[in-house]
Amino acid sequence: MNSYNCIAEDVKLGANVKLSKFINLYGCAIGDDTKIGAFVEIQKNASIGKRCKISSHSFICEGVVIEDNVFIGHGVMFINDRYPRAANADGKLQTEADWKVERTIIRKGASIGSGAAILSKISIGENAIVGAGSVVTKDVPRNAIVAGNPARILRFIEPLKKSLAPEPVPFLDLVTPHLELETELVDVFRRTLHSANFVGGSVVEEFEKSFATMCDTAYCVAVSSGTDALRFALMASGVQPGDVVLTVPNTFIATAEAISQAGATPEFVDIDQTTSNMSAGKLQEHLEKSCTRNSSGKLVSLRNGMRVSAVVPVHLYGQMADMDPILKLAGDYGLVVVEDACQAHGAEYFSKKLNRWMKAGSMGTAAAFSFYPGKNLGACGEGGAVTTNDVSLAGGIKMLRDHGQARKYYHDLEGYNGRLDALQAGLLSAKLPHLEEWNALRRARAADYNRLLADNSAIGLAHEPSWSRGVYHLYVVRSGEREGLMNHLKAAGIGTGIHYPIPLHLQKAYVALNYPSGAFPVAERLADEILSLPMFPQLTGRQQSRVVEEVLAFTSSTLQPAGR
Ligand SMILES: Cc1ncc(COP(=O)(O)O)c(C=O)c1O
Repeated sequence: MNSYNCIAEDVKLGANVKLSKFINLYGCAIGDDTKIGAFVEIQKNASIGKRCKISSHSFICEGVVIEDNVFIGHGVMFINDRYPRAANADGKLQTEADWKVERTIIRKGASIGSGAAILSKISIGENAIVGAGSVVTKDVPRNAIVAGNPARILRFIEPLKKSLAPEPVPFLDLVTPHLELETELVDVFRRTLHSANFVGGSVVEEFEKSFATMCDTAYCVAVSSGTDALRFALMASGVQPGDVVLTVPNTFIATAEAISQAGATPEFVDIDQTTSNMSAGKLQEHLEKSCTRNSSGKLVSLRNGMRVSAVVPVHLYGQMADMDPILKLAGDYGLVVVEDACQAHGAEYFSKKLNRWMKAGSMGTAAAFSFYPGKNLGACGEGGAVTTNDVSLAGGIKMLRDHGQARKYYHDLEGYNGRLDALQAGLLSAKLPHLEEWNALRRARAADYNRLLADNSAIGLAHEPSWSRGVYHLYVVRSGEREGLMNHLKAAGIGTGIHYPIPLHLQKAYVALNYPSGAFPVAERLADEILSLPMFPQLTGRQQSRVVEEVLAFTSSTLQPAGR
């Protein structure tokens, strides 16, 4: 205490508070061991916690709550009324009764840089850092570092370690990419709210145009999910109820569901064991030995006598199926080809026939994409798209997604409510320019896994055939000790997945198809061995090193050579 200060009697000063000179305090509470610099004013109903450091010239107004261990730099300005006015409408000077104080809270351990201004009703999270000179206009999450005017999140600091337990590694981090694009994405929400254009319109059309450009196709029709994209693509390309559609058993169930929902029956062909994708050899064998031409020359299945009309190769894990021979067989047998590119946004295939790289989604009669949030290009909800070079097919899908109408209330056929909403289209348009970079980061992480695990004979690594430039939606390894490896990684805090544990022909949902166990030996063996390791564009070197260390720790303890 000294004679240059003005400390009102109602101030609650804690023990061992250190005060500099020219300080003005009234009606406030200051916690133990806090230090307050020169020319600081703290108003009534403000409270400062213990062990805080309030640097000189800062102004802490009524309504501000500062928790323990907070650092306030020089000249920090708090504001507690959103719309301050000097006089009322009647011209009279405002009094305290007109003042609307809004509470601001600075959580434990946060630091506010010199010259920052904190607008009213703001919460600054625990341990967050506000850069010098920032203007904070919205809440700051815990551990965030923000700066600028208006303050934006630059990154997150590591929380102070409470123990020496290693940092967990998620299988997929969906939060970071959304925080990185927060401003753009929130702008899309705001524009959508302001326009109330929720369904259809130019936002959807713009996304369709740019997605078609990315896929190198003439048309893209945005729909409500990847499953609808597959179903509409099959229906619009001529698959009829009662047909058979060929696909693989090691895919997400949606591939087969869409076939059934189009009224057809899925029939499976086994996969290639190095690529995990449809084996063109097995497809040929199937067409030659399990199908025949009926009396009218139609290709029919020997399983059920139904017309075989289409094939759906799946670009699983973001790696291309071997399209040249599949397209050749489809051409020879008169089959429609619908690519399931739901995991392969931006993947490329080198076509020897055309002597150039081709984009996933540009090779079949049509292709289906999913924008489920975890996909390489994901919406903030559900979404999907069909790509095609066929104008009438695109038109057919537009009708199917919109109750069979091309003109409002004139329904040429019975369709579906299968549109992509405009909000998701806007969000996808904001994300699409980042897809190439995200895919490049995924490829780099995959190359790192391949390099760092290369000497380990107990693990079969993800394979990229020479004709595929994969986009590593998933990075899948094989291990003869899969359950043990998965449990070891789980105990080390590392997330993994199995894509997929039961091949479709052995799922309860498809017992009626009557496939015995052993019908597709390659798919069945892989289902027992595969494990998806953490893979996402923001996977850090440190996180990846932890995954690799733990995989190696497990395999060196078991030393079990497994199928490559
Ligand atoms: C291979 C495959 N096909 C189809 C789908 C279905 O997509 P959606 O979930 O958007 O309906 C998915 C999505 O998980 C998929 O991975």
